[in-house]
Amino acid sequence: MKGINIHPLNKFQQWFNEAIESNTIEPNAFSLATVGDNNIPSIRTVLLKSYDNNGFIFFSDKDSKKASQISQNPNVAIHFVWLNLDKQIKIEGKAEVINKIDMAKYIFSRKKGLNISQWISLESQVVTARSILEAKFDNMIAKFSDGSLEFPSFWSGYIIKPILIEFWQGGKDKLHIREEYKLINNRWDMIKL
Ligand SMILES: Cc1cc2nc3c(=O)[nH]c(=O)nc-3n(C[C@H](O)[C@H](O)[C@H](O)COP(=O)(O)O)c2cc1C
Repeated sequence: MKGINIHPLNKFQQWFNEAIESNTIEPNAFSLATVGDNNIPSIRTVLLKSYDNNGFIFFSDKDSKKASQISQNPNVAIHFVWLNLDKQIKIEGKAEVINKIDMAKYIFSRKKGLNISQWISLESQVVTARSILEAKFDNMIAKFSDGSLEFPSFWSGYIIKPILIEFWQGGKDKLHIREEYKLINNRWDMIKL
């Protein structure tokens, strides 16, 4: 079955929220595979800090192996698995370093279930209302913009811009459901595998 320009992010959001609500341990943990100049893949776990239609954000040490491999070759593959839900999502795409203003925006944007409290608590106050959280958000963005607040110099944000997303749902009697979304000429096509 072919779909016409259906953005897979809605489905990602639905599954991700389901993982959060099902009390999965670290639902935002995913495997990140990179490959550098030596053509040998390397894989490790990182945490999803934010996502939107543009891609998936994580943070890492600029001097790490993954950072060095991404600078040599931006092609990456990532993988979420929520065994308690019998679901996995595999994603292929290109990773890019994000600038510090975007880092701040992504960190302080309030995606449900992502742990932004640790960042907001930089200001050591208990957040009691959404309006306070929003004021803090604006304040933080202003501080990053004027340079009065800095991320640790060794730390960087990366966005993975997807070109392929496959949703896999385990089914009875091995009747699994696989939906593959591919970005072709800026349009998302979906096929059921
Ligand atoms: C649950 C979990 C979450 C992790 N989250 C991150 C993360 O968000 N960023 C990161 O750089 N490393 C994270 N790590 C550590 C990485 O898996 C990895 O060991 C480290 O980044 C060095 O990887 P590299 O040498 O391949 O670049 C996490 C590890 C675990 C087990």
